[in-house]
Amino acid sequence: MCGIIGYTGKKNAVSVILEGLKRLEYRGYDSSGIAFFHDKGIEVRRCTGKIKDLGALLEADKPFSHTAIGHTRWATHGRPSEENAHPHRSDGIVLVHNGIIENYLPLKRRLIDEGYKFTSETDTEVLCHLIEKYSKDYPLEDAVREALKEVRGAYAFAVINEREPGKVVGVKKDSPLVVGLGNGEFFLASDVPAFLNYSRDVIFLDEGEMVVMTDDGVIVTTLDGSPIQKEVKSVSWSPSMAEKGGYRHFMLKEIYEQPRAIADTLRGRIYPESGEVNLDEFGINEKDLEEIDKVFIVACGTSWHAALVGKYMIEEFARVPVDVDIASEFRYRNPILRHGNLLIAITQSGETADTLAAQREAKRLGAKVLSICNVVGSTSTREADAVFYTHSGPEIGVASTKAFTTQIIGLYLFAVALGRLKGTIRDDLVKELIRELLLLPGMVEKVLATDEEVGRIAKELFKADDFLYLGRGINYPIALEGALKLKEISYIHAEGYPAGEMKHGPIALIDEELPVVFLAPKGRLYEKVISNIEEVRSRGGKVISITNEGDTEVCTLSDHCIFVPETNPFLSTILMTVPLQLFAYHTGVLKGCDVDQPRNLAKSVTVE
Ligand code: M6R
Repeated sequence: MCGIIGYTGKKNAVSVILEGLKRLEYRGYDSSGIAFFHDKGIEVRRCTGKIKDLGALLEADKPFSHTAIGHTRWATHGRPSEENAHPHRSDGIVLVHNGIIENYLPLKRRLIDEGYKFTSETDTEVLCHLIEKYSKDYPLEDAVREALKEVRGAYAFAVINEREPGKVVGVKKDSPLVVGLGNGEFFLASDVPAFLNYSRDVIFLDEGEMVVMTDDGVIVTTLDGSPIQKEVKSVSWSPSMAEKGGYRHFMLKEIYEQPRAIADTLRGRIYPESGEVNLDEFGINEKDLEEIDKVFIVACGTSWHAALVGKYMIEEFARVPVDVDIASEFRYRNPILRHGNLLIAITQSGETADTLAAQREAKRLGAKVLSICNVVGSTSTREADAVFYTHSGPEIGVASTKAFTTQIIGLYLFAVALGRLKGTIRDDLVKELIRELLLLPGMVEKVLATDEEVGRIAKELFKADDFLYLGRGINYPIALEGALKLKEISYIHAEGYPAGEMKHGPIALIDEELPVVFLAPKGRLYEKVISNIEEVRSRGGKVISITNEGDTEVCTLSDHCIFVPETNPFLSTILMTVPLQLFAYHTGVLKGCDVDQPRNLAKSVTVE
């Protein structure tokens, strides 16, 4: 996820772009850049760091221009650096991009053979060179059309051509792009807040649509050039609402982003026809992977819950034993690791001090380290032998939501890939597991539709002092995650427990005042969970269950029931998680808590 913006009009485009980038900074903030027309062509300025650093770069000579494009980056391919920052340039073509070009590697090889020189590690640069190639024979919009015939992936981009001053071309596919209409001036951006101070008249581009902006106006077409009449909508959001995409809080926005975040994490990493997982994505060569005889997973907080889910998947698919540790415990427990072991460090931020210490300890002992991380170029990724990026985009809410579910996706892909390599999983099962994965974003959408119902339940229960979350097997870590989310966001005491362990102690807590949340999907442990629900009911506890669509048994035993679609037990953990995130969110809001920045918590915990 990055922020892009383009402007053409009477104002100083450099100032408009800079202001817009500040408003898009929530979409990415590791580096930024701007390109603007001047007398002699197009000038590009880029730097690492925040938008204020880009501002400082422009402060000295205060350039003036009527047409410019800009970018604020959240790295996906290539670490945050000046060379990898956008805009990218190929001769007279200059471009900013948000998305992922899936087939950039074969395109890059071909373009190098054709004589193009690459100056960055990004996927975006291929798009820039391809457009340049066709711009020799075509005007910019047609060159873009020709180039896109060869490109696979997700993109929203803005591009300018030195030979066509005043023109900005933008295209949208699977990444957002909106057009703002002002008085003799036009804007193009990833999101409305970028230009809300100047225009509230907006065209929302749909998939595969192109916009051409010049001083004369805006033309929207399909990619084959047919004109489209677009409706102009008037936006009434405040700038802060707009930044959150109309959601009240970043946490809610990020919960709702999960279908897209999951799709982005999968992008380019699986071959659905053959059921193969792209092993290159794990950055460890096949021989080293085959030799792995034991896996350790270390993490903190929510990432540790993903680690616990990962143990079930790796042991099931690859039949390799897995130890899971809280990072702060691992580093001091004198662990037994050696060559042939793999340590997976899971960390959304890549900067958690305890997780870094654990991965350093594993390296010292001779194990290989794989980092599953959301922040490109973070310390964990730089120090690891291999990296799997979750590509879920920046998570602004302190409580982890989309980062967690995409970590589970990373672990699922790893477990399937390892199982395939070790021959512990049948080809037809691999295909089935991948097929189910592709259905997952749609299923998460369906679960999001329970939001209102979850909100109603929260309204009934938000005054409770304690909650118990129970799950069995692979849903035990999800119970832990549900409880952690509630604690963080609403400050209500909550405990997660393995449902089967309840009778060994926590059962003493149960009375009419205690809401108990059960994770009760269909499957091997379904009957067992029903028995646990009975145990709670017979002691007067309030039961809230999350189960599969069509279930009646669990529902007749519960005070409240949330339905999620049925899938395999491994992916079901993600569907079970979403209502728990929503429940924590609504409860926090009802209690008047600051859900995006809960007290005493920090987004990345860089101290021990
Ligand atoms: O950045 P990390 O994934 O390493 O962070 C680990 C924990 O600090 C983090 O998951 C924390 O528990 C969150 N507040 C969870 O919502």
